[in-house]
Amino acid sequence: MRISSSKTIIALTLYGLALGASICTAGPSAAPSKDVQEKPAPGSPGDTLTREDARMAYLVYKLLDKDGKIIGADIKRGAKLFYQNCRPCHGEDGRRIIFNQGRGPEFIGNKARDDLPTFWYQMNFGDEDRNMEAYIDEIAVDEMRDIAAYAQTLP
Ligand code: HEC
Repeated sequence: MRISSSKTIIALTLYGLALGASICTAGPSAAPSKDVQEKPAPGSPGDTLTREDARMAYLVYKLLDKDGKIIGADIKRGAKLFYQNCRPCHGEDGRRIIFNQGRGPEFIGNKARDDLPTFWYQMNFGDEDRNMEAYIDEIAVDEMRDIAAYAQTLP
């Protein structure tokens, strides 16, 4: 658990640094204007964000409202996708696997509500040491949005 949180923090911190750096270089004195206009597309050569940073940034900047709830999700579809992909291990209500027993039990539901960045990071990039698979190459990002929104409704 400690590992996964620190990974999330690192991902968010790196994103902050990358964002800070890009804001700095966007200043008029820092670079000729043609460089400023041609920002590299995410994932293209020249894009300085790692895949992990980009995925975390997508969560923070595109998917969350100010209360930390997911915007624009299809929760019904999320339920179906959760049933297909996550239920076999985590259980129908997300409570079959208990995380973090030391500090009191955490399940899919309260993880998604209380610590969505960790939830999102784990769903995307997994955790080999704990046998949680990475889904970034398996599940489309809009489907992950729906799963995360559904997960926030679990007990
Ligand atoms: C093959 C079994 C398996 C499947 C399928 C699976 N998980 Fe997991 N997941 C695990 C295991 C094992 C852990 C680690 C539990 C532990 O630390 O004790 C885990 C951990 C997690 C965590 C980490 C929580 C934390 O506190 O860090 C999240 C979030 C999570 N899974 C979400 C999902 C979602 C969403 C899906 C479906 C897209 C999914 N999992 C599918 C086995 C699975």
